[in-house]
Amino acid sequence: MKIVFFSVTGNVRRFVKDLADFSSLEITQTNPFIEVNQPFVFIAPAYEKEVTEIAWDFMETGNNAQYCCGIIGSGNLNFSDLYIYTAKDLARDFDIPLLDDFEAFGTAKERERIKEKIYACTESNQES
Ligand SMILES: Cc1cc2nc3c(=O)[nH]c(=O)nc-3n(C[C@H](O)[C@H](O)[C@H](O)COP(=O)(O)O)c2cc1C
Repeated sequence: MKIVFFSVTGNVRRFVKDLADFSSLEITQTNPFIEVNQPFVFIAPAYEKEVTEIAWDFMETGNNAQYCCGIIGSGNLNFSDLYIYTAKDLARDFDIPLLDDFEAFGTAKERERIKEKIYACTESNQES
C-alpha cells in the first residue's frame, strides 16, 4: 500500500488510477477506521469540513499518522486562498510534510513529478 485517498467527484480516484504504479486504498464515509501499518502517502481533495472529517478519522486510527510520510492536495485554484486547504490543514494538524498538489485530476507532467515524490517518500520512510 503506497497511496491512501478519498474522492468525492472522482478526480483523485482518476489521478491514482492514472499513476498506475502503486497499490492504493480508498477510504469512504463507511470505512475510515482502517489501520495501514506501512509507509504511505495520503491524497486529499479539498471540501468543507463535514466532507473531509473522514481524513482526520483515518489519521487518528492506530498508527496511521506516524506511517503517513507525506500529504498531497487536489483542489481548484479558483478557490484562491482556500486552494488545497484540506491537505494543508491535515499536514499542519498531524505534522506531516505537504509534498505537492495538483488541480482536478492532474496532468501527465504532474503525475510524473508526483510519482517520483511518492517513491522517495515511501522508500526513505521504510529505511528509517
Ligand atoms: C463543493 C465543493 C467545494 C470545493 N472546495 C474547494 C476548496 O475549498 N479548495 C479547493 O482547492 N478546491 C475545492 N474544490 C475542488 C475540489 O477539491 C477538486 O475539484 C478536487 O480535484 C476534487 O477531487 P475529487 O473529485 O476526487 O473529489 C471544491 C469542489 C466542490 C465540488
